[in-house]
Order: sequence, then structure tokens, then C-alpha cells
Amino acid sequence: MDGPLVFAHRGSSAALPEHTLAAYLRALDEGADGLECDVRLTRDGHLVCVHDRRLDRTSNGRGRVSAHTLAELDQLDFGSWHTGEPDETVDDVGDVPADPNRTRLLTLDRLLTAVRSAGRPVRLLIETKHPSRYGSTVERRLIAMLRQHGLSDPRPDDPVRVTVMSFSPLAIRLMRGLAPRLPTVLLLEVVPRWPRMTRLPFGAQIAGPGINLVRTRPRLVPALREAGHPVYVWTVNEPPDIDLVLDCGVDGIITDRPALVLGRLGR
Ligand code: G3P
Ligand code: CA
Repeated sequence: MDGPLVFAHRGSSAALPEHTLAAYLRALDEGADGLECDVRLTRDGHLVCVHDRRLDRTSNGRGRVSAHTLAELDQLDFGSWHTGEPDETVDDVGDVPADPNRTRLLTLDRLLTAVRSAGRPVRLLIETKHPSRYGSTVERRLIAMLRQHGLSDPRPDDPVRVTVMSFSPLAIRLMRGLAPRLPTVLLLEVVPRWPRMTRLPFGAQIAGPGINLVRTRPRLVPALREAGHPVYVWTVNEPPDIDLVLDCGVDGIITDRPALVLGRLGR
């Protein structure tokens, strides 16, 4: 395949509620190469796919994710808040599927099971949120869960490939120690300030600059690539930004609108 990999950010999340099974299955139907998700811990130590620290924006619950048990979170509706976004590239946009299982809380376990049974190659980018708040618990639970699904030690013939991501270099170091063969993405919001600016610390292989950074410093992309780091840019949703990252020669595009990006790539 020519051109960058296309990753659905929180699923096909412009069209359907983020981090729901519905949004992820939609992204696979649309032809995305991979899926992005964030993971957090519940009060009783389960990894769940939720971006915000609090439940309020994306569910009918209130308060911190980490203040609730999995059983409590499982009662919530993670679908109704989302009104959908008009998108000419696909039909029937905005309809939340009637099946409540597709808009309930998504645990990492459920997502990995769905990806395993997709019957096609899937690349999964998993981001740990605020690792320092929990010491190393998030990373340890993440690697243990990947191990349960046979995904902590990548095999070339496995259609599912996992990459772990963080804004925290310390989290990257931890995950490299726990699962040395898993690829890692160090996410970047500002220009790196390390001694050798384009050489990522702690053995992170892939650079993940945000689109705001790429807009202001487009030459960072070829510089990182020349230093040996593939570059995945987030979150690229608008046509001018898609054109910009394609001009820069990125290796991966993380987007809320995978159908739009794939259409732009002629795929
Ligand atoms: O893919 C990286 C990107 O998701 C980081 O930002 O806030 O959407 O998790 P955020
Ligand atoms: Ca994320």
C-alpha cells in the first residue's frame, strides 16, 4: 500500500460517539488501517476506553471515571450525547445504532476482542492517559491485558498489531521495559527540547506530533523521519490539514474522519 496509514481517532468519531464499539466498527467498515483509543482505570482497576478524566461530556454519568467501578460504568449510556456530524463522504451519518451494546462503555478487553474477531488486519494505537497519577498501574495492567489477548509480543503473521502511545516519556520508558518488542509512539505538542532535538528519548520509535505543531513547524516531519522515526500526526480532520501532512510525507494520519482521509488518498 502506498501512502500513509489511516487511523480512526477514538473510532469514526465525527460520525458516531467516540470510543464506542459502534464508532470502531464503523471505522473498520470505512477501510481504516487502524484504530486509536485512550485508556483509563476504573476504581476497581479495569482499563476502559474513555478520553476525559470525567464522565460528563461523553455519557449520562457524572464525576471522575476513576471514582466508579466497572459495574457502575456499565449502566451508563455513552451514545446519546452525540448528535453526529454531516459528512458527505458517507451515507446515514449520525445514526446511533439501536443496539445498546454498541454504545455502552467499551472496556479495553471488549475492544481487543472485537479487533481480534474483525477478520482483517487491524493496527491498534493505545494511549495511556495521565500515567503518573497511578504510578505504573496503567502500564502494567495494559501490558497484562495485551498478554491475555496474545498481543504483547508482536508476531509478523498476526493480523492485529498494537502500538502504545503516551505524551509522557516516562510512560514510554516503562512500557519499553515491560514489553520491549511493542512499538511506541511519543506524542508531541510542542517542539522537542531534547539535546538532539529529533532523536526521541527512551527508545520511542515513532513520533506523534499534533497538527498544530506541524502547521507551525512542517519541517519537523522530514527532520524526525531523517532521524529514523516514522511520524504519525493527530488529529487531522480538515482538507487543508490533510493536504499539508501528505506534502510533509507523514507515515500515519490519525483522524476523526477516516472516510474523508481515505477518499482524499483515493482508497
Ligand atoms: O492520537 C493522539 C491524540 O489522541 C492525542 O490527543 O487528547 O485526543 O488524546 P487526545
Ligand atoms: Ca488519544
